[in-house]
Amino acid sequence: MIIALDGPAASGKGTLAKKLAAHYGLGHLDTGALYRAVARDMIDAGKALDDEEAAAGIAQQIDPASLEDPELRTAETGAAASHVAKLKSVRAALVNYQRKFAERPGGAIVEGRDIGTVVCPGADVKIFIEASTKVRAERRHKELVEAGQDISYDEIHAQIAARDELDRSRTISPLVPAADALLLDTSDLGIEAAFKVAIELIETNR
Ligand code: DC
Repeated sequence: MIIALDGPAASGKGTLAKKLAAHYGLGHLDTGALYRAVARDMIDAGKALDDEEAAAGIAQQIDPASLEDPELRTAETGAAASHVAKLKSVRAALVNYQRKFAERPGGAIVEGRDIGTVVCPGADVKIFIEASTKVRAERRHKELVEAGQDISYDEIHAQIAARDELDRSRTISPLVPAADALLLDTSDLGIEAAFKVAIELIETNR
């Protein structure tokens, strides 16, 4: 079974994807980490974020072991990721990586922005997670403060709003629910409640 889980920044899809992967015994791919890894490597190499040739070269050689790097989780890397994510050849290289992962025996849960629309249009179940900007900013702020980062709520709110705008307005693979995606709004749901609803959606639609 392939489950596509899409949604905006800090919608809770990462936590939900991990829980669903454990529940169903599926492989799990956080595709945002791939874009973040390209952004991190571009910054480390001193390249401009719109240098498409350099970014495509990096995207073709992603090291899966480097996807656990805590540096990927910073707000700066997230913001830089939404810039490299606009580049056509970066997306082509990473989509290739994602499709290979999704086709593994036993299936996978793949989370991102364009999984239901572009990466796995034939996924067995597509879920699109939503949550208000305020709720997402509160969640992400708490997460970063707990991880020891010194950043204000207002700054996070502005960053999330800016990333939404970039993700939704880009020409290639914008953040948009697939026509056959099931919508799950987690604004008023804790993680356990969201998990329960997701299981119900999957069981009814798989
Ligand atoms: O989910 P995230 O915050 O880790 O994603 C980081 C950035 O990567 C996000 O701004 C948009 C981009 N992204 C994308 O364009 N397509 C995906 N499938 C996943 C992430």
